[in-house]
Amino acid sequence: MPQSRNDLHDNAKKTSIGVLQGCLTDSIDLYNATRHAHWNVKGPHFSALHTMFEEFYTTLATDIDELAERLVQLGGTAMGTSQSVQGSTRLPAYPTDIKAGMDHVKALLDRYAMVAKALREGIDATDEAGDADTADILTGVSKNADKALWMLEAHTQG
Ligand SMILES: [Fe+2]
Repeated sequence: MPQSRNDLHDNAKKTSIGVLQGCLTDSIDLYNATRHAHWNVKGPHFSALHTMFEEFYTTLATDIDELAERLVQLGGTAMGTSQSVQGSTRLPAYPTDIKAGMDHVKALLDRYAMVAKALREGIDATDEAGDADTADILTGVSKNADKALWMLEAHTQG
């Protein structure tokens, strides 16, 4: 660990850096997938979905920054290049051959659910490690992921 006056235990820092990097990588991948959907979605619900996907990636951009900056505060290097994301994302590759609105909704729904699950697991892991601040940041990001998940699921129900 590099020298820092941040007095969190090294073990807690290591746990948090690992959790944050995993969530950061997945969130950058999800951000790019959401932009892809925003650009390429077609069909009768184009306008609503195009706008909703934009809201999602705008929120994700802020959340990605929160995750990355916390990681660096703890002594890590926030890995955010395309090459590092491609090599370590836990999300399946986003299908580039789909166009219909519901197909994009379902593809994003699967991936937002994975990210939301990983964030929730990360909250517990960092809390147990003694890093309440990282758990708090993950909780904020988790709330946004759950909200996106709700909005996507609403399109598949009723
Ligand atoms: Fe746009």
